[in-house]
Amino acid sequence: MSDKIQAVRGMHDILPDQTPLWRKVEAILVDCLENYGYREIRLPIVEKTELFKRSIGEVTDIVEKEMYTFEDRNGESLTLRPEGTAGCVRACLEHGLLHNQVQRLWYQGPMFRHERPQKGRYRQFYQVGVEAYGMPGPDIDAELILLNWRWWKRLGILDKLELQLNSLGTIEERQQYRGELVAYFSTYEEVLDEDSRRRLHTNPLRILDSKNPEMQSLIAGAPSLLDYLGEASRAHFQTLTSFLDDMGIAYTLNSRLVRGLDYYCLTVFEWVTSELGAQGTVCAGGRYDGLVSQLNGKPTPAVGFALGLERLIALLEDSPLATAQIPHCYMIRVGATAERQGLLLAEQLRDELPGLRLTVHCGGGSFKSQFKKADKSGARYALILGEDEAAQKQVGFKPLREEGEQQTVSWEQLVEIIRRQIFH
Ligand code: HAM
Repeated sequence: MSDKIQAVRGMHDILPDQTPLWRKVEAILVDCLENYGYREIRLPIVEKTELFKRSIGEVTDIVEKEMYTFEDRNGESLTLRPEGTAGCVRACLEHGLLHNQVQRLWYQGPMFRHERPQKGRYRQFYQVGVEAYGMPGPDIDAELILLNWRWWKRLGILDKLELQLNSLGTIEERQQYRGELVAYFSTYEEVLDEDSRRRLHTNPLRILDSKNPEMQSLIAGAPSLLDYLGEASRAHFQTLTSFLDDMGIAYTLNSRLVRGLDYYCLTVFEWVTSELGAQGTVCAGGRYDGLVSQLNGKPTPAVGFALGLERLIALLEDSPLATAQIPHCYMIRVGATAERQGLLLAEQLRDELPGLRLTVHCGGGSFKSQFKKADKSGARYALILGEDEAAQKQVGFKPLREEGEQQTVSWEQLVEIIRRQIFH
């Protein structure tokens, strides 16, 4: 016998016991997005490889080693999207959505990165992403953070998340800082770990992001990017923090926060939790004013973030939202007439009681075995149709989770009983 085929490593199934929580969370997220005027855009999962190389950056971890890239049958290099921002800009340019107008957009769906799987880190994972175009000021940066804040409030996890904030300045300011950073780390080249030594001349800012404990004291002594910001960048950042102060949103300034994608400038932020071990960043983003022109559009200010749904869901496992989907009623049918009438009754109930979760037992069996299934389903009530009930157009109604005798009622009475018991 051949082995059972299993899922690809790092690609996980979301099982029926978990999907109700996912759906409730997604509904709350979308509700808030609509509160702020964001509109949904649906984007392809596959894009031309070149798009990601040109936007995320050639010397980032994602592009260097994490992309699922393949040649299609025409020999074109395509990639499963590792993130949504690049595709969103591509789509906006392709459809003229950035022409003299602002856009507030959101998207959701799977992203793919060939990272080492561990708790909270998958090779296929789900994001909800938000992108805002055409607004240069810090007010829109603040709006995104407020939106996040509202999400956490609605989900009841505000106390589990900390907002970390930094400014990466303009490209020129970063260039100057980069020089200082290379000079600083070069004096310690022999003690740098392998990753950092490699990054020293390709992407030195990423050294600041190293998780290696042995690198931390060296990193702590490195020059801070905030000291290299020009007047305008500083003002942008200060106005943003004053908006957040006004709104009572707490944040931590983290001058080592550099993000793993190259397109950022000015504001960058991450919402982090200490409850998920090493993969504690739940939601992250920032400003990327240079990306639209880098992809051959007119220069357009842009800012956005993406939320990792698996990590968010992991924070919500004990939440009241995490209740399984169980049927309200389970219908038992024994005998040919009962089977036919049962279908009729079930459809009537579904017509008259929208929102009713009714499972009709299929596949036959004795009363006893069907009752067992009813009990196992978790349903609150059993609806029972035997030959007697069927002959008189009646139905048995029996509580399964609370005290109470089985009563025999007409179909009309049943509608009213269920309405009273379940929907009041
Ligand atoms: P990112 O920081 O690469 O940013 O990813 C955003 C979030 O996606 C992370 O904070 C994390 O919650 C989740 N995430 C990333 N990789 C994984 C993984 N392997 N497994 C599970 N969750 C993961 C972006 O993707 C940018 N496009 C965000 C953005 C939008 N910036 C501007 N606009």
